Amino acid sequence: MSNSEIYTPNPERYNQTIGYNFCGRSGLQLPKISLGLWHNFGDVDDADEALKMIKFAFDNGITHFDLANNYGTPFGSAEKNFGKMLTKYFSSYRDEMIISTKAGHEMWPGPYGDGGSRKYLISSLDQSLKRMNIDYVDIFYSHRYDPNTPLDETMGALSDTVKQGKALYVGISKYPVEKANEAYRILKENGTPCLINQDKYSIFSRDIEKNVLPLAAENGVGFIGFSALAQGLLSDKYLHGIPENSRASHSYGFLQKSQIREELLVKISKLNDIAIQRGQTLAQMALAWCFQKDGVNSVIVGTSSLQQLKDNINALKNTNFSFEENWKISELS
Ligand SMILES: NC(=O)c1ccc[n+]([C@@H]2O[C@H](COP(=O)([O-])OP(=O)(O)OC[C@H]3O[C@@H](n4cnc5c(N)ncnc54)[C@H](OP(=O)(O)O)[C@@H]3O)[C@@H](O)[C@H]2O)c1
Repeated sequence: MSNSEIYTPNPERYNQTIGYNFCGRSGLQLPKISLGLWHNFGDVDDADEALKMIKFAFDNGITHFDLANNYGTPFGSAEKNFGKMLTKYFSSYRDEMIISTKAGHEMWPGPYGDGGSRKYLISSLDQSLKRMNIDYVDIFYSHRYDPNTPLDETMGALSDTVKQGKALYVGISKYPVEKANEAYRILKENGTPCLINQDKYSIFSRDIEKNVLPLAAENGVGFIGFSALAQGLLSDKYLHGIPENSRASHSYGFLQKSQIREELLVKISKLNDIAIQRGQTLAQMALAWCFQKDGVNSVIVGTSSLQQLKDNINALKNTNFSFEENWKISELS
């Protein structure tokens, strides 16, 4: 990590390209692009680049940082490393930041380190707060639906984190639509309405358009998309092989080499041609495309370098698509 002790954020940080949307019917505004720390911020990653990305994000109006208990390799290291940066550089700016974390996937051994039980969620949030060295998170999510735990219990645990002052808002992620509906009802009854639903959304993953987005809108719940670049597939990087240091090249990442199939590369190449005609990179077009859909309040990007983050922010400079472009993209999605 860099040794420079003093960090003075850009005084113009709220007058940049980013822009903000209200999250559902809440009073909370989210930057159109949020930064996710799933990959690239763990102990196996480049700490200097990670710090540069966090500073650049904040300097450019990205106020929302998305984490989870198990982010980073090893699990927990993204929260720990982010916490160190917060303490060292951002402690005076905590009130300008939206920090989210989650619990729901496997985190520690035994029956209490996975799923949706009250036991797991509450102790996991306590651990996350310690790792990040903060008193509260802005958003605490149930990271996935757990069919083995009554939904009342999972939602009750989320609500109690708000009542205990450990979270300001709560959200759900990757819930089947009928369970999301139930979760919205229970959280409302508990007096802690669901702020946000987080789910996968990209040119290659459009399932949420049919039911998840309309249901969230009906309930006043915001929506934030993840993996808008399909973990990097929606960029030009894999068109000529698997570059060193790319996500697919690592043994520990979530994108497997086997996912990069020839028929997919044909589609990616055609999408790349459309992007070039628009004067954008494919990564930029893939991000810009997500903002056309009403109800998408923010998109979380994952970046492995400062340059990628800069490129992605510039995607917001052209989010208009012609009918013909949309038609061609739909044919390839
Ligand atoms: N709730 C959930 O279950 C869930 C699941 C997944 C993600 N998320 C959240 O969403 C965030 C983003 O997810 P993701 O990392 O899968 O998203 P993504 O944005 O689809 O993929 C990120 C990867 O794309 C590549 N990339 C990014 N910008 C690029 C650019 N301008 N040009 C070329 N390549 C570029 C980089 O790959 P290289 O590393 O190869 O350079 C980067 O690591 C996560 O950090 C997390 O916060 C949540």
